[in-house]
Amino acid sequence: VRTGVFTGKKILITAGPTQEKIDPVRYFTNHSSGKMGYAIAQAAKNQGAEVILVTGPTSLQVPQGIHVEHIVSAQEMYEKAMKHYAEADIVIKAAAVADYRPSETFSQKKKKQDGDWFVGMERTIDILKTMGEHKTSQILVGFAAESEDVEEYAAKKLQTKNLDLIVANNILMEGAGFKGDTNVITTMTKDGKKKDYPLLSKTEAAKWILNDIASYIERQVNQ
Ligand code: PMT
Repeated sequence: VRTGVFTGKKILITAGPTQEKIDPVRYFTNHSSGKMGYAIAQAAKNQGAEVILVTGPTSLQVPQGIHVEHIVSAQEMYEKAMKHYAEADIVIKAAAVADYRPSETFSQKKKKQDGDWFVGMERTIDILKTMGEHKTSQILVGFAAESEDVEEYAAKKLQTKNLDLIVANNILMEGAGFKGDTNVITTMTKDGKKKDYPLLSKTEAAKWILNDIASYIERQVNQ
């Protein structure tokens, strides 16, 4: 794994889940632990990058020497990530952002009543897509968490969100995706390079993701 390409570069990384509030005691969320994003943050820091980590609620310790922004909702992640977007050289979006949030929230605890309760859901903003639309010189890296037709959907996200690289993980595969310490990833770049990796620790996967970003940057420079 190479070093040097990231020295002094500003890398904005998002990690963890978002929580979408319903009332003071209830929220919608997902199974992201933040491990994948934090592993990338640590690896980028080790390789000399200036790291800004925008993180949803996790039980992980923030690696030392990186700038951290704690957020709860998708809207807050959007605001904090966009705040640092213009200054970033590279953006890596490992967070599992809620695509929907309750369309109505309650400031008091919603009381139990007879019968069912239907919660309406509205779309959140797609942070990655917005970044793709406002890209200046940033290298934009997204993740794709899929349960079927992984490469097809990932390739589509790479294109429609104007990304440079996408990391696909099949969340139904043993040892891949949410929560655990391992992942099974495929990286795909805008210039058509694809790499399939075996089961790796998230620490190792993070290094390979950075390695593939570094190779992509070098190809752009040498073009
Ligand atoms: O945190 P861990 O437990 O270690 O798990 C790691 C992981 C499975 C969460 C991670 O490897 C991963 O796949 N992260 C992306 C999860 C996801 O939300 O994927 P998606 O296919 O729904 O979204 C695609 C991309 O768009 C992601 O980069 C996501 O950050 C981004 N997105 C999604 C929705 C939204 N409103 N805004 C976004 O920016």
